[in-house]
Amino acid sequence: MQNNVLILDFGSQYTQLIARRVRELNIYSEIKPYNNPPKDLSSYKAVILSGSPFSVRSDDAPHPDLSEIKGKKPLLGICYGAQYLSHFNGGNVAPSATREYGRANLSYIKPSEDFLSGLEEGSQVWMSHSDTIKQLPEGAVHLASTQDVENAAFRIEGEETYGIQFHPEVYHTTDGTKLLENFLVKIAGLSQDWTPDAFIETTIAELKEKIGDEKVILGLSGGVDSSVAAMLLHKAIGSHLHCIFVNNGLLRKNEFESVLDQYKHMGLNVKGVDASARFLEALKGESDPETKRKIIGRVFIEVFDDEAHKVENAKWLAQGTIYPDRIESVSASGGPSAVIKSHHNVGGLPDYMKLKIVEPLHLLFKDEVRRVGKNLDMDESILGRHPFPGPGLGIRILGDITAEKVSILQEVDAIFIDGLKKWGLYDKVWQAGAMLLPVNSVGVMGDERTYEKCVALRAVESTDGMTADWVNLPYEFLQKTSNDIINKVKGVNRVVYDISSKPPATIEWE
Ligand code: XMP
Repeated sequence: MQNNVLILDFGSQYTQLIARRVRELNIYSEIKPYNNPPKDLSSYKAVILSGSPFSVRSDDAPHPDLSEIKGKKPLLGICYGAQYLSHFNGGNVAPSATREYGRANLSYIKPSEDFLSGLEEGSQVWMSHSDTIKQLPEGAVHLASTQDVENAAFRIEGEETYGIQFHPEVYHTTDGTKLLENFLVKIAGLSQDWTPDAFIETTIAELKEKIGDEKVILGLSGGVDSSVAAMLLHKAIGSHLHCIFVNNGLLRKNEFESVLDQYKHMGLNVKGVDASARFLEALKGESDPETKRKIIGRVFIEVFDDEAHKVENAKWLAQGTIYPDRIESVSASGGPSAVIKSHHNVGGLPDYMKLKIVEPLHLLFKDEVRRVGKNLDMDESILGRHPFPGPGLGIRILGDITAEKVSILQEVDAIFIDGLKKWGLYDKVWQAGAMLLPVNSVGVMGDERTYEKCVALRAVESTDGMTADWVNLPYEFLQKTSNDIINKVKGVNRVVYDISSKPPATIEWE
């Protein structure tokens, strides 16, 4: 990739947002940790320094060597990045008298500067810092201020080096995208050709070249990532792609049949394997959440492995891994990583399988995967699907799992999800599902006393599942759903709604 932006990460909570904003401009960008930068910088046409929770004045703050970058490539420092550029070039960074968080407005803008072109006096920006640049380094040209921050934007004379105290990547910075575009296109001369169609074309060509006439196996999950990965491979190598879709008996109601149908409709060479009985047998009597997860993971690999062996001459294993799964993150706390991602559906295949790995989506963010799927004419019912965990209903049935409990939860879940769709709420919710609780409670139906199961409904808003908030679903909807569940699902006499956010709760109950 020759038209590429390097984002050096200093541990800011907004670093991924910078990459996404750049990509929204149809310019490819990559995030690398400041302490492990790429050795070869030749493919990067511009560099952006992220913010950071550290103070530049602290000894353990990131202090990377920029001698191969500053003055040699267009360079933009954001927040900590700007302070870093000042501090180590003769400027003065000190604690601010007033901490500036949230909205501010730019003034003293120089409209004649390419960097600020299109921005107007008063333009809203987002600030989040406790240090401030008291004095700019020598050779710096002051470009903008806010009410509380004198040096809100500057450039270094004779270089394509810029610094801004605010965060252009945050939506509250009204002209943030414009500013990034000015820097990347007007100043750095990058072209805006990173589009879904261009990605599809180059990826298919690369996959053809890489795989040749060897065979690939891929585990489909029904989710967006594995489905889009399969479509790209299908376009590249056709029937040499062998997809396997395993029914672990813990899928949603009728999901195995309907998703399998959809895949076949898309022309995929897919084999559905119904291993429900094998999973249920292995899970029998087990109620510890982690052990249940491990059993489901192990049996999945066994089933997948059995099927993969039936494909003669398979040389590759395809995975739907996406970019956020691979970003090496910088930890603000000094620990190994700020983002802990422990969930994988197909991971850790036995060594003896000796398959080469191919990951067609490893460069994409989730929203880009959806855009690519759309341009591949994939159905909205696959692209707009809520995330669903690999262990499925197994981690939504608290305690031990039986076929009867699975069937009760499938009915409850179907009423809830169909209801969300009917009420036009499905696309407003990031993920939703029902949990079967290991408690019975007393109820009354007609004149009869009942002593039956309780279910919890959960619907959350989120962007990546790392944090989440419960959704304020309309009371009328909850009322109708609760009635439907209790009237239609035998064995359930009580419905509750989960109003916990993550953290401290998690999205799944197990
Ligand atoms: P938690 O419960 O950790 O879930 O807040 C965060 C997101 O991850 C999903 N999840 C999984 N996905 N395999 C998966 O593919 C898993 O083992 C797994 N466990 C949780 C969960 O549904 C939510 O979207």
